[in-house]
Amino acid sequence: MGAGPPAQRRAEGARDGARPLLSVRGLGIRFKTTQGIWQATRRIDFDIAPGERVGIVGESGCGKTITGLSILRLLPGNFAGLDGKILFDGVDLASCSARQMRAIRGKRIAMIFQEPMSALDPVFTVGHQIAETLRVHSNIGQEEARAKTLEMLRRVGIASPERRIDDYPHQLSGGMRQRVMIAASLICGPQLLIADEPTTALDVTVQAQILELLRDISETSKTALMLITHDLGVVAETCTRMITMYAGEVIEDAAVDEALVRPLHPYTSGLLRSLPHLSPRHGRLPSIPGRVPSIAEMPAGCRFRARCAHAAKGCEAEQKLQDAGGGRRVRCHRFAELNLPGALHPPDAPAAAKVATQ
Ligand SMILES: Nc1ncnc2c1ncn2[C@@H]1O[C@H](COP(=O)(O)OP(=O)(O)O)[C@@H](O)[C@H]1O
Ligand code: SF4
Ligand SMILES: [Mg+2]
Repeated sequence: MGAGPPAQRRAEGARDGARPLLSVRGLGIRFKTTQGIWQATRRIDFDIAPGERVGIVGESGCGKTITGLSILRLLPGNFAGLDGKILFDGVDLASCSARQMRAIRGKRIAMIFQEPMSALDPVFTVGHQIAETLRVHSNIGQEEARAKTLEMLRRVGIASPERRIDDYPHQLSGGMRQRVMIAASLICGPQLLIADEPTTALDVTVQAQILELLRDISETSKTALMLITHDLGVVAETCTRMITMYAGEVIEDAAVDEALVRPLHPYTSGLLRSLPHLSPRHGRLPSIPGRVPSIAEMPAGCRFRARCAHAAKGCEAEQKLQDAGGGRRVRCHRFAELNLPGALHPPDAPAAAKVATQ
């Protein structure tokens, strides 16, 4: 599974000194609603290095999907404005024209979603749809496009691609459709693949196969992966770094191996402890009380305060995403004094690389 020992995974993720491929700075996303303008995310800061695999985690409604969509500038119709910068290979996508974005989308940055059926057109064969992406972005003929499509279908593990290439989406299983989507997203050799809950709709064994495929492809093609998921087991299995989002903000950023053993934010700790297959404990799993606040009524100060067992004086103040040393960042002023449990005890730590999503 290519995860390697913790130190190696950390080094892979950190890539000291290398210019990040993606550098998101102060990203805020606003929507127009019948009740006025809502600020859905704010102050989002993170980097992804070339070839790095980064998981974006958090409960439903934390802002993961819209952060991914904003990178490709595919936000819904009631989008009302964006603050900050989205630097991709040095170019600010936030200020690119629609034409510039069309040249980047699908070619240099690709995205796959939870439900491949909604992204595939039922009236065209899968081969046609993959080849179409290629033809839009390059000047190649039909025959060459078909040959490359066949090669890509083989690469993503579709058996008998010569037969499958002329199938329509409904003739394929959910797992095969997701493989087709991965083939379509990779056909132009993007530098960044954004995968939003790519395995959530699949059953468990297929889920593991798709994650392995994403990891292998990222390793062999050096494609950076931004894996959006509510499932921390998926991140433990696939990524080297983990960014936790809560209520529209980044609240922790750490190497996966470190976060699994010693999370610095109470929210990350709560998420990790409620994971059934990572928990070393038996019996009832702890859960985080309450729910993510609605964007219509965000509390002042630490946004996690109402649910936090460690809330104390000072938590009513705005929390900054601060440097926690060792390349880690956390949005909690108490991080140094809290010794929070993760999903694994330190002696179990090397097992982090072997955690499977079951
Ligand atoms: N089109 C929209 N209009 C208004 N609010 C939206 C819209 N899309 C998303 N939101 C809000 O933005 C927040 C983040 O949504 P989303 O990125 O889908 O969360 P996640 O992917 O983490 O579950 C949610 O509170 C959601 O209600
Ligand atoms: S700032 Fe306070 S309330 Fe917020 S996570 Fe830290 S300890 Fe909890
Ligand atoms: Mg989502």
